[in-house]
Amino acid sequence: MTSENNSDRRNIVIFDTTLRDGEQSPGASMNLQEKLAVAQALVDLKVDVIEAGFPIASPGDFEAVREIANLVKGAQVCGLARCVNADIDRAWEALKCAENPRIHVFLATSAIHREFKLRMSQEEIIQRAVDGVKRAKGYCDNVEFSPEDACRTEIDFLCQVVEAAIEAGATTVNIPDTVGYTTPPEMTKRIETLINRVPNIDRAIISIHCHNDLGMAVANSLAAVAAGAGQIECAINGLGERAGNCSLEEVVMAMRTRSDIFRADTRVVSQKLVPTSRLVSKVTGLKVPRNKAIVGQNAFAHESGVHQDGVLKERTTYEIMSAESVGFVKNDLVLGKHSGRAALADRIKSLGFDVTPESLSQIFDEFKRLADIKKEVYDADIIAIVDRFSSNQRRSADEDWKCVSYELSCGSTPSPAIKVVLSHCGEEKSATFNQGDGPVHAMFGAVRQVIGLPVTLKEFKLEAVTGGSDAQGEAVVFLNVENSETTYQGSAISTDVIEATFLAIVDAMNRIQRARRLRTK
Ligand code: KIV
Ligand code: ZN
Repeated sequence: MTSENNSDRRNIVIFDTTLRDGEQSPGASMNLQEKLAVAQALVDLKVDVIEAGFPIASPGDFEAVREIANLVKGAQVCGLARCVNADIDRAWEALKCAENPRIHVFLATSAIHREFKLRMSQEEIIQRAVDGVKRAKGYCDNVEFSPEDACRTEIDFLCQVVEAAIEAGATTVNIPDTVGYTTPPEMTKRIETLINRVPNIDRAIISIHCHNDLGMAVANSLAAVAAGAGQIECAINGLGERAGNCSLEEVVMAMRTRSDIFRADTRVVSQKLVPTSRLVSKVTGLKVPRNKAIVGQNAFAHESGVHQDGVLKERTTYEIMSAESVGFVKNDLVLGKHSGRAALADRIKSLGFDVTPESLSQIFDEFKRLADIKKEVYDADIIAIVDRFSSNQRRSADEDWKCVSYELSCGSTPSPAIKVVLSHCGEEKSATFNQGDGPVHAMFGAVRQVIGLPVTLKEFKLEAVTGGSDAQGEAVVFLNVENSETTYQGSAISTDVIEATFLAIVDAMNRIQRARRLRTK
């Protein structure tokens, strides 16, 4: 379904901000190992720029940017800084070992931000932006400037700021829709105006950074590209502040599938989109909705008889891209208890995972255990096991709580009674709880008693991973820390749904503890 003529396609720079703006999603914090795993996945996906973090924000952010700068080969590594000397110096300190570093400086330009946040005049803003770009330029040739809240900035003033930033040395000027307020026609006009009115605009790449508050981040980014923007800032699974950023997988596949309209493409290896999305979902704990475009579990599922019949006769009757092109793997062969290690390793590889030999041994043992319980083990089951044991994904910290055992008695009459045993730094602790409304409530009460965190259970979901009465169950919990707006998610999978609930609650509590430790550090 794509245009046949490739020669007139512009290459659009993909600037991934999963590790910076994406990590600002409530509850999505990642530890260093997880950030490194995501950075490597982004390199394999062939994004052009990885925004690794905001080095001045915390020692943890600084360390992560420095480690990513050390690790990454084949993509630019970028660090964010306000137009403040200390920020820029710190960003460079973290980035200087990168093969291809970029400093990204930003300063708000809209009247609302000037008046209420910065209390600065237009002249002062221009001067501060110029000084920031020049200081960054003293360290590195590759400098991006963002006038924060650009889409609510008076257009005449925006043109002046952009011109001054380019004059000072910015090689990319990013136009953020910081609050997700603009619409596609407005975006088209704004980019066209910048192109027509800023005299030195040809000396920089115009970039776009859209938030999704009105659900238009992808549409606005595409409008900007159609109007002449050359870089899109986006995040895997659309992660980011509040409602998130432009989703990388959606914007990339929109350009590829409708290159007849956009006449643009990227270097992204689309077959790696689903594995990367799964990795990010796993390490952040933020689940991908089933009906999410491109990477959701239902994105290529056909339920109605009419659709199934059509797809069987000719796939393109109801599919505008193939599931394989974004990284879903079609397998006619279902694995079972007679399948060997080589067959399992092969399937894991074709699902897009790269596991170490040690992880493979653990995964194989768990696969055999599951295959004894279930007749057929589906890809979703295998992904669930890999998620649990893969060493390049979530590594549990030494200080994490571990589930040891539980005993539950419940029925239709009195309250359930539960005893849980957990271990922490080698020491076992237990609690009993017998006042719950049901087993989940009782489990939550008992775990909270052991760990001692002031949290409330906001939401609980239980879903079968595959069809069939012997399916594994996935428990997902959302916890709120008292007196805080932030929600932490935890998830776990097991053939025993109470065990899955136990593991999921402890997973969420460990995430809260890790975030607290990071903040104290
Ligand atoms: O949304 C925004 O304005 C930002 C800038 C720092 C680019 O994230
Ligand atoms: Zn943003």
